[in-house]
Amino acid sequence: MPEKLISRQVQDYLETLVPARPAEMQAMESYAKEERFPIIGPVAGYLCYQLARMIDARSVFELGSGFGYSTAWFAQAVKENGGGTVHHVVWDEELTQKAQHHIAALGYKEVVQYHISEAIQKLKEVPGPFDMIFNDIDKHAYPDSLSVIKSKLRPGGVLIVDNMFWGGSIFDKLDQSPDTNGIREFTRQITGDPDWVVTFVPIRDGLAIAYKK
Ligand SMILES: C[S@@+](CC[C@H](N)C(=O)[O-])C[C@H]1O[C@@H](n2cnc3c(N)ncnc32)[C@H](O)[C@@H]1O
Repeated sequence: MPEKLISRQVQDYLETLVPARPAEMQAMESYAKEERFPIIGPVAGYLCYQLARMIDARSVFELGSGFGYSTAWFAQAVKENGGGTVHHVVWDEELTQKAQHHIAALGYKEVVQYHISEAIQKLKEVPGPFDMIFNDIDKHAYPDSLSVIKSKLRPGGVLIVDNMFWGGSIFDKLDQSPDTNGIREFTRQITGDPDWVVTFVPIRDGLAIAYKK
């Protein structure tokens, strides 16, 4: 889907610039490809890791963690920052089990906490504030997530949101599906709120990188 927007040449080039990943991460990337499971991939993952290192993130909350690929990038950063907690949240128990296996194999067990739950509800429950929040849940739920995220992110914290281009669907006026409209509405909300400094980065399917003033 993202190939439609960003040329294969650019995507392949960016991927060659990401440092080699451990075998376990490579196996996760291969699994995602085979199963067509939507992960953020190495280029966006490395950017997440970089941002988490830049702000010295020790507490990260992920909404929609899948089988742990994005979690692994945040966990690496938190571990290298000196330790802390990455909250892995997904509502599929099977995915959580897979994630636990991968995260343990990568040596990040002590920095990841697992929650099998609807993600916005869990964010309301877990005490914050967080240094960094990553949002990758079902897109129709994006608008409902923003006020909760804002209340749980510390001032100076960073929000990263995936799929802001949704394979180009956001540009198609005829596409009025709940997911596409969810992304459009979320974009309107965050760009219209002066408490956020936000940039949309055309990596893979579009990332929003937002700094909370
Ligand atoms: C796009 S995948 C996650 C990929 C992961 N962030 C990565 O890059 O490795 C989203 C996952 O979150 C789950 N999910 C979607 N909406 C959710 C919600 N509101 N609460 C909890 N899990 C959700 C989906 O079932 C799916 O397993």
